[in-house]
Amino acid sequence: MSKIEEALKKAKQARGNSETTASSSSEVFLEKQPEYTRTRFQEVNPEQVEANRIVTLSDKSSHVTEQYRMLRTQILQKTEGQGDNCLMVTSSVDGEGKTTTAINLAVAIAKEVHKTVLLVDADLRRPSIHKYLGLTPEQGLSHYLLDNVPLEDLLIRTGVEKLTFLPAGSPMANSTEILRSTKMQELIQEVKERYKNRYVIFDTTPLLQTADPCVLAQFMDGIVFVVQAERTPRKEVAEALKLLEGRNVLGVVMNNFSTPEKNYRYGT
Ligand SMILES: Nc1ncnc2c1ncn2[C@@H]1O[C@H](COP(=O)(O)OP(=O)(O)OP(=O)(O)O)[C@@H](O)[C@H]1O
Ligand SMILES: [Mg+2]
Repeated sequence: MSKIEEALKKAKQARGNSETTASSSSEVFLEKQPEYTRTRFQEVNPEQVEANRIVTLSDKSSHVTEQYRMLRTQILQKTEGQGDNCLMVTSSVDGEGKTTTAINLAVAIAKEVHKTVLLVDADLRRPSIHKYLGLTPEQGLSHYLLDNVPLEDLLIRTGVEKLTFLPAGSPMANSTEILRSTKMQELIQEVKERYKNRYVIFDTTPLLQTADPCVLAQFMDGIVFVVQAERTPRKEVAEALKLLEGRNVLGVVMNNFSTPEKNYRYGT
């Protein structure tokens, strides 16, 4: 059991919750974390994780966690063995649950026996992964892209086994051009090819409000599209999906805010 899992277990016990956090066989960790020698260590904060619905870490036996495991399984089925390991999460408009989905999906994949995951905060406008995980990175992707800071100095080991995080860095108002740059393409190539059993998951901005996801979509092997159920009009969903025409949309995650027991549904 990793430190974060122990901490979560303790927090749960302190709240008098007797639910166990026993690992299933799929959660046996066989493969080591990718070894970038200078990678920093910052452990995710159990309280933030729980408050921000990262259920794959805070509530392993919940129905929603199970839904994320199903999402993982379907995505692995569609991508495994084809070198399709670079995925991004997007949606039509803001607040539909992209970041929540990206983190939970990353954790669910990292819990697979043979997979490591690099989670990249490519929402350079309003980065939030670090907040949801309770981390306080000093630098990130923007420093790689603008200041040539080496990738190794920016990656964070999270205390969640097999999950490494590349924070966004300094927020910027117009990130489209920098995401279109050769340097960004080099980064994607580097993270994609360095370890063959690794998935790289990019959290991005909304399609109808920013050009960033359209730019990033060109370099991705697959796209996970999040829809906030009962909020986003069909017309907007159709408009956003049109922008992804010709790209490999792996599936649509229906994120249901109002009915917790039916939180997530996945379809193609
Ligand atoms: N199924 C859900 N039920 C209730 N709240 C949710 C659910 N999914 C996400 N949220 C909450 O909704 C808010 C927005 O979620 P999130 O940040 O994941 O969306 P986003 O699409 O990444 O937003 P943005 O476009 O601003 O980056 C967060 O406070 C998150 O905790
Ligand atoms: Mg977000």
